[in-house]
Amino acid sequence: MASTSFIIVAIDGGAASGKSTSSRTLSEQFNLLHVDTGSFYRAVTAEFLRRGISPGDLAAVQAAVAGLDLGTRIVGRSAQMEIGGRVVPEAEIRSREVNDHVSHFAALPEVRTALLAYQRHQAEVARAGGFRGLVMEGRDIGSVIFPNATFRFFLHADPQERARRRAREGGNDSIAERDRLDSSRKTAPLACPDGAISIDTTHLSLAEVVDTMAVPISARLAS
Ligand code: DC
Repeated sequence: MASTSFIIVAIDGGAASGKSTSSRTLSEQFNLLHVDTGSFYRAVTAEFLRRGISPGDLAAVQAAVAGLDLGTRIVGRSAQMEIGGRVVPEAEIRSREVNDHVSHFAALPEVRTALLAYQRHQAEVARAGGFRGLVMEGRDIGSVIFPNATFRFFLHADPQERARRRAREGGNDSIAERDRLDSSRKTAPLACPDGAISIDTTHLSLAEVVDTMAVPISARLAS
């Protein structure tokens, strides 16, 4: 008999490591809510920049996070963050200004703490939406947000290959610098958590990356 239990798939990795495309594909394949936590940090960053708050002004950051009115809208199979009832447009969260600031805001414990419960709450959003589970991508999902996730994957690839992928997507992103900041911060740094399944995607096609994760997920859902 196929399992009816709710599953959580955590996918962590650096910028352009293959997380986004593979987590979207898994969400389609297994009816999982897709949650891109990078987009949450980006939305909050866009909001702070809109209000003229800099990452160095801790008092302003603290006041702003305390007053954030966060909601979630499901668009297709993806969870989108609402701030004050508004979804920050994609063009804004992928802008150069947000690219340049997001790692600085994401390094602040005040910001990470404010988003912790919100990210965990996505499991309830997925249940209420009738999903089979959720696939959440980020930097600290398997280490901090869902350390007991059903599956924890960590994707990595050579820096040159990641730069090529980002260029192919038309990105203008300094991924090496963001990875340096994300890996060296004190709170929840980017790292492969103990016990996670580490996948080197440098020489794998997207289909091969997805298969590496889909095989154990299928087996679990069929058991
Ligand atoms: O996945 P992305 O490149 O869109 O993420 C944007 C930034 O957000 C990234 O530089 C680090 C931060 N981030 C984080 O600190 N923790 C997460 N769980 C997800 C993203």
